[in-house]
Amino acid sequence: MALITWSASLSVGIGQLDRQHQKLIEMINGLHDAMMQGKGRDVLATTLDGLVAYTASHFANEERLMADHSFPGQSSHQAEHRQLVEQVQALARDLKDGKPVLTIAVMSFLRDWLNTHILGTDKKYGPYLTARGVN
Ligand SMILES: [Fe+2]
Ligand SMILES: [Fe+2]
Repeated sequence: MALITWSASLSVGIGQLDRQHQKLIEMINGLHDAMMQGKGRDVLATTLDGLVAYTASHFANEERLMADHSFPGQSSHQAEHRQLVEQVQALARDLKDGKPVLTIAVMSFLRDWLNTHILGTDKKYGPYLTARGVN
C-alpha cells in the first residue's frame, strides 16, 4: 500500500510540475514499500541520494519558472527549498556517518514536508503561472 496517493487535490495545475511531484511521491512510496518488506535501511541511503538529486532539479525548475514570470512569492519559496535540501542532505550525511537514522522518521518527515510544501507553497504559484501561459 502506498504511503502517499496522488490525487487532484495535490495538482498545482501545471502538467510538467505535477509530473515531477508524482515522481517525488513515487520515490517516497518506494522507500515505504521497502520498509514494509523489512528492507528500509538498505534503500534509505539510495532513496535519500536520489531525493537530493531529484529535488535539486525539480526546485531549479520551479525557481526558473517563478523567476521568468516575476512571481512575487519567489524568494520565500526559494528559502523553503533551501531548507528542505539542507535537511535531506543532513539526513543523508548522518546515515553515511553511521548515526542512527530511523527509516520511519525519515519517511514521515518527507511525507509531511511534501504535503505541506505542495499544498501550502507550490499551490500559490499555480494560478499565477497558469494565467501567464505556463502549462
Ligand atoms: Fe514542488
Ligand atoms: Fe516548491
